[in-house]
Parts: sequence; structure tokens; C-alpha cells
Amino acid sequence: MDNRPIGVFDSGIGGLTVVKEMLKFLPNEEIVYFGDTARVPYGTKSKDTVTRFALECIRFLNKRKVKMIVIACNTVSASSLPEIRKKISIPVQGVITPGARAAVAVTKTKKIGVIGTERTISSGAYIEAIKSLDPETQIYSKACPLFVPLVEEGWLDDDVTYLAAEKYLNPLKQYEIDTLVLACTHYPLLKGVLKKVMGDGVILVDSATETAKAVKQTIDSLKIQRTIETLPQHKFFVSDTPDKFVKVGEMFLGRKMDFIQKINTEEYVY
Ligand code: DGL
Repeated sequence: MDNRPIGVFDSGIGGLTVVKEMLKFLPNEEIVYFGDTARVPYGTKSKDTVTRFALECIRFLNKRKVKMIVIACNTVSASSLPEIRKKISIPVQGVITPGARAAVAVTKTKKIGVIGTERTISSGAYIEAIKSLDPETQIYSKACPLFVPLVEEGWLDDDVTYLAAEKYLNPLKQYEIDTLVLACTHYPLLKGVLKKVMGDGVILVDSATETAKAVKQTIDSLKIQRTIETLPQHKFFVSDTPDKFVKVGEMFLGRKMDFIQKINTEEYVY
């Protein structure tokens, strides 16, 4: 048993898509979430910067005495996971392998589209992960850099978002994909719009469910479950004003964020 919380981080609100699934699969675990809203987006930045930001987020979570780290961010998982694993002694779970697993499980035609941030797409991490599971798949990827600011703005079902989605996704349609991987934890918040643009013939998959299952597996196999029977008190921290984060986040999670706090720069930046 280990009653310490699980630390989860993302550049902003996107990681809540993973939290939502963790609440289902790990209902007795306590979560400490950090959204680096002062520095979002990560996906347009260099690998070195993303790695440095990620280690700073982990520094903050470690101060909250977490027993495990969940990188609820494809950009960080794609560019920095091996370096993070080398530096951190507690278990670390990324989102790329779970996302790849979800895609390979549902595709019938083996033609898969992958959309994500510029950093995630240029890393080639999804192509590598999907191909290692099924070498016969054909993968077509596309960076959609405007989606993250649209989500952070809370424009989840807006005309502007719809137009941006059409512009990004229409070129993917010529490849007759049957599966589209939402390779950014922000994107499941745009599922309604993305579904409308891609049509019923394309299944949208993301990493959230598979990641939550993988976290549960780690917790169970290491026997580090929280055994206290009182309800877990989840805590949410952000590095900039929390107003929009709380508004969009509560709507998405379908529950109140009872504890939300803006942290100071010196609490995480070296
Ligand atoms: N939600 C993150 C991801 O999964 C980061 C997006 C960003 O900050 O650009 O890639």
C-alpha cells in the first residue's frame, strides 16, 4: 500500500482528458494535477525546452510527494520520455504507447491518421509506436497547431474551430483512413467538431483510456494502491490564472474542482 497521490501533468487543460479516465479506473486514488498554463503551448517549442519544462513540472509534483508520474501530454511523451525516465526514480507513464495500442486495436483497413502538435508529429514517435505493434499499417500524420490555443480558449464547438478543423483534416480524407488518433491530450475536447468533419466512417481514438488502464496496472503490480477509505481529495494546480482552466475543466470533467491553486514560478522553475 502507498497512500501518496499520483502526479499528473500537462502544458494546460489537455491532461484532464487522462484524469477523467483515471477517475473511472482508479476511483480510490488521489490525484495531484499540474497544468503549466503560463507556458502553454509546448507543442511549438524545441525538444530541449519541452524537456526542461517537463522536468520543472515533475519537480513541482515531487514536492507534493507523489508516488508515480503520469505525463498526460503527447508532446512531452514524444520528445522527452527516455530522458525523464533516466532522471526520475518513481514510475513514469507516458501516453504514446497507450495511444498507439488503441489505434491498432480498432483499425480494420490499417490506414491510420495521426494528428498532434508540431513537436509530436515531427518526432515520428507515433509512427514508430504503431509500426512496432503492426508493421503493415500505413500512417498519415498532420500537425494541427491551432487546436491547442482553441481548446485553452474554451472554443470547443465554435465556427472558428470548425473551420480550422476542416482546413487541417480535409487533406487527410484522400487517404481513406478508418482511424484517427488524437495524439494530443487537448484534442478529445474537440471530439464533437472532429467527428463532424471526419464523418461516421472514421473512428476517433485517443490515449486517455489506455493510459488510465496502464497506470492501474502499474499501481496494482507494484502493490502501491491507496488503502485509505475516505474519498480522495484531488488537487489541481496551474501556473497562471485558473479562471478559464476551471470553467472548461469542470464542464469537461462533469464535477467541481474543489481545490485549485495558482502556484508561483519559484515553486517549479529552476
Ligand atoms: N496536450 C499536450 C499534448 O498532448 C500539449 C499541447 C501543447 O501544449 O502544445 O501534446
